[in-house]
Amino acid sequence: MKDLLRTEHLSCSQVETLLATARDFSKDPLSASTALANRTVAIYMTKPSTRTRLASESAVAHLGGTPIFIRGDELQIGRGETISDTARVISQFAAALIVRTFKQSDVDQLGEAASIPVINGLTDDDHPTQLLADWMVLNEKFGENLTGRKFAYIGDGNNMANTWLTLGAIMGAHIVVATPSGKFAVKQSFIDRANLIAAKTGGKLEISNDPESVKDASAIYTDVWLSMGDSDAEKAERVKALTPFAVTPKLMSLATKDAIFMHCLPAHRGAEVSAEVIDGNQSVVWQQAFHRRTTIQSILYHLTRGGI
Ligand code: CP
Ligand code: NVA
Repeated sequence: MKDLLRTEHLSCSQVETLLATARDFSKDPLSASTALANRTVAIYMTKPSTRTRLASESAVAHLGGTPIFIRGDELQIGRGETISDTARVISQFAAALIVRTFKQSDVDQLGEAASIPVINGLTDDDHPTQLLADWMVLNEKFGENLTGRKFAYIGDGNNMANTWLTLGAIMGAHIVVATPSGKFAVKQSFIDRANLIAAKTGGKLEISNDPESVKDASAIYTDVWLSMGDSDAEKAERVKALTPFAVTPKLMSLATKDAIFMHCLPAHRGAEVSAEVIDGNQSVVWQQAFHRRTTIQSILYHLTRGGI
């Protein structure tokens, strides 16, 4: 596997390899401090980022390399240079490319044309590096055997919902996704693809329009109601449809006693999550943010050494 373009491309054993190396990097961040010595990693983002950018730049530095951050408007792509030509040029200078943008097909195209590893740092559809960090936290909290537990995502049927379903399916987990019906539900094509994976791994996926389906979950995950790229004009409609899916102390009380609250961040207190929940003792959001570096470091380490 040359690239990490889509979560669905990962197998369970590849995820386990990536997480094992990330665990090493969380104990000793400098255990491979010359892996990228004298090399660069390009980080190209056409959407804002706090965590993914900082985690990526730090990961490259911990591997001994130099990150080159490129904002969306800084490349000739904006003036009509093709994605493929851009990928070929970046391949001559960098050991890897981390990219955050809108269309998944743009990331797929970069991966196809680049001779170096291309890593998806978020698209409208998928956020693979985030989910690997999240799985680190699930393993730290509940151990590596997650059998018998169910994990819930609640809120907008967006890229995070897709990625939860997909990684959960790959790992053979029991996942519940609760969203409003209609416009803000998970798109059927993602559900179908995740179900195909789950049929092979023994994963159990439940799609629901009932916020109370988080009952007895060991983790409740949520995300923003308006993602990057979503139209501001839809905001009022989203708030109306999504308010019953907010993570409040009452909703958390339906989960198991040892349940954790998860959020990829950035968060909006008083909207998708109450301040008492995200700032309370069940919240693991800072551990999730911490593992963005360990997991991206692991992905870079493996992909720049020939694959996972
Ligand atoms: N969770 C996440 O990807 O955060 P950023 O948008 O700040 O990178
Ligand atoms: N769904 C959010 C995730 C941010 C990390 C977005 O795409 O904006």
